[in-house]
Amino acid sequence: MTNIAIMGHGTIGSGVAEVLLKNGKHIALKIKDEINIKYILDLRDFPDSPYPEKFIKDFNIILSDPEIKVVAEVMGGLNPAYEFTKSLLLAGKSVVTSNKELVAQKGAELLEIAEKNNVNYLFEASVGGGIPVLRPIAQCLAANELYEVQGILNGTTNFIMTKMVNDGISFDEALSLAQQNGYAEKDPTADIEGHDACRKICILAALAFGKHIYPNSVYTEGITKITSADIAYANFANCQVKLIGRARLTDEGKCIATVYPAFVNNDNQLAHVNGVYNAINVFGDAIGNVMFYGPGAGKLPTASAVVADIIDCVKHLHARKYLSWDDADSSYIADYKDDTVRLYVRLTAKNDRLSVKAKAEQLFGEIKVLGRNGEQDNELAFITPFACEKELDKLLEKLNDCDIISTMRLI
Ligand code: HSE
Repeated sequence: MTNIAIMGHGTIGSGVAEVLLKNGKHIALKIKDEINIKYILDLRDFPDSPYPEKFIKDFNIILSDPEIKVVAEVMGGLNPAYEFTKSLLLAGKSVVTSNKELVAQKGAELLEIAEKNNVNYLFEASVGGGIPVLRPIAQCLAANELYEVQGILNGTTNFIMTKMVNDGISFDEALSLAQQNGYAEKDPTADIEGHDACRKICILAALAFGKHIYPNSVYTEGITKITSADIAYANFANCQVKLIGRARLTDEGKCIATVYPAFVNNDNQLAHVNGVYNAINVFGDAIGNVMFYGPGAGKLPTASAVVADIIDCVKHLHARKYLSWDDADSSYIADYKDDTVRLYVRLTAKNDRLSVKAKAEQLFGEIKVLGRNGEQDNELAFITPFACEKELDKLLEKLNDCDIISTMRLI
């Protein structure tokens, strides 16, 4: 029998206990070992829990118990999760987590500590909820030079945008529905402002390219400014608006990492990923490209990934999984504005729409003008040709006699 502890009894933590207790016999048969939850750490009281004897409030009980070999950190947040994880790894215990904030911020350091102490630090649940994606990138695609990872990485925002498009409900109604379903974080800011997707693209890029990317080096935009007019113009252009996390290596071996809402053409499979589902497209020199798709958030899907990591640690108590990357500094990051893009532009002409359109054609060359039901007389929406984003910005500055209302990139 192997004893484990779970730190945190929120949505994910209670799901981890539920899956382990419900499927315990089945798991024991598969791995020829029984996994026993000895402790559940949480400062709150759970008087109605079916296993009240497992709850503790003191982290040191877990740290000092030599019987505990594997710990699931499902508390979320940086502190005290960072201090707890570091102490556990230094004490020779393996740690698994769904905590993308911690992995994105401190992953390189914690992986190094795990390596030095011959234990594992696994975090499959930190990206894509229940989708097996990190292990396949690290192991099944290990033969490739990977050069790009892109995807829909946040279930809550994808759920919100799908509901807005399909059911015609408001942003606030869709957000509240996401929270009722347990998809959104307690504070939805991280989801809707793109910070959650930013942490996930940092982890994906680190694993795919072997160097740590810190969240503050990723250009990040959320979904709060998207309007029904933008969605209507996207439909006219045969596109869907999706929050896309993307990281790619430049020819010089630097990394461009971004998170922003983009027009995704209906020809691209990402356009058809709806609701709380996530999809991650990985590009490599041998594989071409491969897409991972599945439930990106939610109690049991995420618990499924955490429990799989617990099982992996239990099966490898004396062996290390080769999941790691090196630290890197800011010189590894390239400017996203040097990327070549097409921009969707929506503006309001101050006087004459036709003269603004003529000026746009003169500046950008061939533009694709879009339409929508309910379009105002002075409104103009168009898509530019491909160009370096810095150059497109300069041209937009020259487009006078109008107010630019919104811009979005196409992928
Ligand atoms: N809030 C996150 C999401 C949870 O919506 O994707 C899963 O990481």
